[in-house]
Amino acid sequence: MLKGKTALITGANRGIGEAIARTFAKNGSHLILVARDIESLQKVKESISEVEVDIFSCDISKESEVKALFQKITKISKKLDILVNNAALLQSNLLGMIKKDSIDLLFQTNVYGQIYILQYASRMMKRNGAGSVINMSSIMGVQGGKNSSLYSATKAAVIGLSKSLAKELAPEIRVNVIAPGVVKTELISDLSQELLCEFENETLLKRIATPQEIADVALFLASDMSRFITAEVLNVDGGLCLN
Ligand SMILES: NC(=O)c1ccc[n+]([C@@H]2O[C@H](COP(=O)([O-])OP(=O)(O)OC[C@H]3O[C@@H](n4cnc5c(N)ncnc54)[C@H](OP(=O)(O)O)[C@@H]3O)[C@@H](O)[C@H]2O)c1
Repeated sequence: MLKGKTALITGANRGIGEAIARTFAKNGSHLILVARDIESLQKVKESISEVEVDIFSCDISKESEVKALFQKITKISKKLDILVNNAALLQSNLLGMIKKDSIDLLFQTNVYGQIYILQYASRMMKRNGAGSVINMSSIMGVQGGKNSSLYSATKAAVIGLSKSLAKELAPEIRVNVIAPGVVKTELISDLSQELLCEFENETLLKRIATPQEIADVALFLASDMSRFITAEVLNVDGGLCLN
């Protein structure tokens, strides 16, 4: 489904980003994988044999690092067809416990980081006259979440950003959002068993998602199967948002 395409995926060394990388590889896309930790990226690269994989360490919250990243990317690829803006951090806290440092860190990573990447990636896509962008939000950005006002605010910002960019970058570039419910990855490793059970009970499908279930939706949005879909927020939450 992605033969001949080049895809940039941030946060690709584990969790949902890694599952998306493996799924895109099976579908023939050249991969450009980004995260801060290069050793785990190297392990992902070594375990993918189907396609060409390029890896780069980059802290997306730093504009200078994103600029340097794209200087390297333009040396290895003339075009970019797909962007999965996936990297993010989660912190849960009651409003009164949120420190300014946390606000800065979460917004710099989850929002500024996506914007920096989008500025450079959209330029490459425009030059090529086409592109599909998938920005990772969360069901918490759609409906909020307990003890998650800060994280939810960053993920709601991703939705506003994406809908505006869908208008700005059309008709050449499609911009869509995936809003997962709860997915079994390191991101939620600090959540208590009690809270996880609560999420499972509140989810109509009575379980949390696997990273692959998010990757399958990313494949759909990245491919021509979704060629008439833009500015869409796809909740992939097993029905959690209805509760
Ligand atoms: N898991 C869930 O339940 C869930 C639910 C809804 C939405 N999501 C969203 O899905 C996406 C992926 O989450 P996940 O569950 O796969 O999380 P994860 O396993 O914690 O992975 C997060 C990824 O982001 C990268 N990252 C974090 N900060 C970065 C930075 N400053 N620069 C570059 N890379 C950075 C991490 O790599 P390094 O640490 O090496 O940089 C890692 O690859 C996120 O946007 C998350 O908000 C997840």
